[in-house]
Amino acid sequence: MTKLLDAARTSFDGEELRRGASRVLLDNWTGASSVPSHTLYPHQWSWDSAFIAIGLRHLSVRRAQLELETLLGAQWADGRIPHIVFNPAVPLGAYFPSPDFWRSSTAGAAAGAPAAPETSGIVQPPVHALAAWLVHEADPQESLRRGFLARMYPKLAAWHRYLTAQRNLGGSGLVTTVHPWEPGMDNSPCWDGPLARISPAAPDTFRRADLDHGAAADRPTDLDYGRYVRLAADYRDSGYADEPGRHAFAVEDPCVNALLIASEHSLARIATAVGADPAVHEERARRLTATLVLRLWHPAYGMFLCRDLVEGDLITERSVSGLIPLIVPGLPDEVTSALRTTLDGPHFRAAETGLVASYAFTGPSFDRTRYWRGPAWFNTAWLIERGLRGYGADKRADQLHSAFLASSGASGFAEYVDPVTGEGHGTRDFAWTAALALDLLARQTRAGSR
Ligand code: SER
Repeated sequence: MTKLLDAARTSFDGEELRRGASRVLLDNWTGASSVPSHTLYPHQWSWDSAFIAIGLRHLSVRRAQLELETLLGAQWADGRIPHIVFNPAVPLGAYFPSPDFWRSSTAGAAAGAPAAPETSGIVQPPVHALAAWLVHEADPQESLRRGFLARMYPKLAAWHRYLTAQRNLGGSGLVTTVHPWEPGMDNSPCWDGPLARISPAAPDTFRRADLDHGAAADRPTDLDYGRYVRLAADYRDSGYADEPGRHAFAVEDPCVNALLIASEHSLARIATAVGADPAVHEERARRLTATLVLRLWHPAYGMFLCRDLVEGDLITERSVSGLIPLIVPGLPDEVTSALRTTLDGPHFRAAETGLVASYAFTGPSFDRTRYWRGPAWFNTAWLIERGLRGYGADKRADQLHSAFLASSGASGFAEYVDPVTGEGHGTRDFAWTAALALDLLARQTRAGSR
């Protein structure tokens, strides 16, 4: 059914790629953390920083540690890690929504926002404990010498407590996201249904800055933005309070929950390393894994789906988010084998195209260039590569590994690529694309043949 990729889509010069990726990470470093992009995203982003640290550890373990420590320095007292930490040196007009929109230090004070720095009030997927563990593993002695894990552990544990307690809005135990920016896949067609219920903020009440740097056809629409703004403003005006039934947008997302489970496993390792009890994390990972399958697995789709808590139903759209649980260990055999079939079958065509489209080719809203409505992203490919390897599918993981490396370099470390042609879209010199390329290159060197 699928033809394997031709050599041009999988070949690359490892040395040149390493130099290019390193240059991006050096250029995007701002002193104590990295920007995803100097133009489109000129502050620090939460899940970006986790992926960036995973690559930075191959260049400088100190910087990789600092990347995560800077992010966690902005953690709220309720445990949440904000999705953006604002750099006060960047002009307000450079990014929207800016700190004067979120007003974390005042509107978020009751929820525990720090007096400084200013941050957003929503969260992003919890990749951080996984990243912290990988950074530790890059140089365990240096990590120990600096007390890295001992400082990270209580903060990461508080972060997971926030997610599993305050964000258990559906009562199932899974984490609920309350804004399309939280799962990080802003304009996924999965949100079209839930967002249709939201009345957009009036266009003349805000000014998008993203279109100064990105092509409009690659970005979410103005109507999407009107709804993003409405939801964020309502959350802010509630004091960033999390209560069941209060959120107009409330979704259980498979990628967010799979990353939490992977991070709980890492947190168990971190707990052991610092002399704390890993059992609470192992137990939570086990419970969440069972609940993920129970709540979000759809056997006829052969993948996980998102659940809309306002309507109570599964959202019948195929997003790459539903393949990411491959990174969760201990899934039933029928689930992992169905996920692999779906990955390379007619909906995602990954063996044929190289990377993994963010939304099914067969979906009614498929769009090759528009952000999370079709383009292939590198963080999702990295996660699926890791998942395949975790389940012993090394040969298939090797193919994804090569396609990732070839495409990241050829696209100029693009934010995302057309899943058919591999042409770059969004911003270039995008930090997580470069970071994760460095990570795959390092593993290739160690393994010798990948
Ligand atoms: N992804 C969002 C943006 O495009 C924010 O997290 O700005």
